[in-house]
Amino acid sequence: MSTLSSRSGLAQSGQESGSQNRSAAKGFPNDFLWGTATSSYQVEGAVNEDGRGPSIWDRFAHTPGMISDRSTGDIAADHFHRYKEDVQLMKALGAKAYRFSIAWPRVFPEGSGSPNPKGLDFYNRLLDELAANGIEPFVTLYHWDLPQALQDRHGGWTSRETSKAFADYAAYVAARLGDRVKHYFTINECSRLVHLGHGIGADAPGLKLSPSEIKQVRHHVALGHGLAVQAIRAHGRAGTRVGPAENAVSCIPAVETPANVRAAEKAMRELNAGYLTVMLEGKYTDAYLAQDAPKYTTGDLRIISSPIDFVGINVYMPDHYVVAADNERGFTLAPFPASFPHMKATWLRPGPETMYWVPRHVAKIWNVKSIYITENGTSGSDQPAADGTIYDVDRIMYLRNYLTQLQRATSAGVPVHGYFLWSLMDNFEWSDGYEQRFGLYHVDFATQRRTPKLSASFYRETIARNAVM
Ligand code: NOJ
Repeated sequence: MSTLSSRSGLAQSGQESGSQNRSAAKGFPNDFLWGTATSSYQVEGAVNEDGRGPSIWDRFAHTPGMISDRSTGDIAADHFHRYKEDVQLMKALGAKAYRFSIAWPRVFPEGSGSPNPKGLDFYNRLLDELAANGIEPFVTLYHWDLPQALQDRHGGWTSRETSKAFADYAAYVAARLGDRVKHYFTINECSRLVHLGHGIGADAPGLKLSPSEIKQVRHHVALGHGLAVQAIRAHGRAGTRVGPAENAVSCIPAVETPANVRAAEKAMRELNAGYLTVMLEGKYTDAYLAQDAPKYTTGDLRIISSPIDFVGINVYMPDHYVVAADNERGFTLAPFPASFPHMKATWLRPGPETMYWVPRHVAKIWNVKSIYITENGTSGSDQPAADGTIYDVDRIMYLRNYLTQLQRATSAGVPVHGYFLWSLMDNFEWSDGYEQRFGLYHVDFATQRRTPKLSASFYRETIARNAVM
């Protein structure tokens, strides 16, 4: 999987005949895996139970001024106690897979050293419940809730000690859950945790580092990914599959001409130099190293590019529309006009074709043979109508258009094997607290009552027909 190829054969294998396929059925491949996704700090709550240690998100959320509605994930959607009910919500959708994350500070309250004997109990219960209901677990090892102890002791991801501690934690988990977990994602959205957590301070741990320090953090995060891949291979059962879950910087041809498509591929490779490019090619690009280069060894690069089994990508929006240009880089990034629309969250600009182009680029640029869409979804205002129903037709519009583009991709031979909708239910949306709701199920956080929105019916019908509704 880590082999580099600028041509994956997609063009030869029918990629370009997509328009023909598109006009045919709207179906997905027979074995396509439909799922939903959540993450530990966003849904679990129970932050002081069974010996869990504090995470950087506990510290950050409890720091005045960091969360827009002054909330925390202390209780969140109380998934820790209500997981049985939540598995039934998945079942009601007909979903066959669930992507959730393990809270590292439940397992190693101090980040490393002695494991908490009760640390995996909750996940064991959850895994048994999923198995009893025929739902396949896809486990993310790190969805941003770093043990606070590692931040205090080593400066978190500013130190490679954290990359090593991550590998030890991954090894511990893989050795114990291997009877039920066949798929792991290492780190969720390296790009956001580096940029928002260490660049602009909007996410935990709230640092605002210099450009060269940021590149060093990014290197340690990529190294942590590679070390965890190796740890899972060494300690998991044979056949355990592993890959990243990245929010790739998405580069979309502004007009789909062959020249713009090539320019978008170039931009995609360059703008993901610190993540997917180094993971899949084992080297940083020259342009990336030209300024503020991180300190690293060739051994590090070999670790970072340890072979993976699939690439997970979170797809929300176009980051850049690209136009071919006669300049050194070969492309221009079109500025977004003020009139470009957005969903409820102002950052979430809808661009459904992102769901076609990002997996296609990943397959073509790096010859990747297996891709999962690890997240896709939108928040909405989600006000109940007079009859009590949440008619979230904005979410349905968004999903329908993105899934149409995903179907365009699969029918053109792009190897996407599954899709995890973000999110199963409303949850703690980081610095936006509970003000941005992404769930298919509405959660009343005062009573913890779950109620399906209209989009839950849309998704249930989509899964049942294995086709865009
Ligand atoms: C990506 C993150 O992985 C997830 O935690 C977050 O809630 C969604 N984006 C929506 O912002």
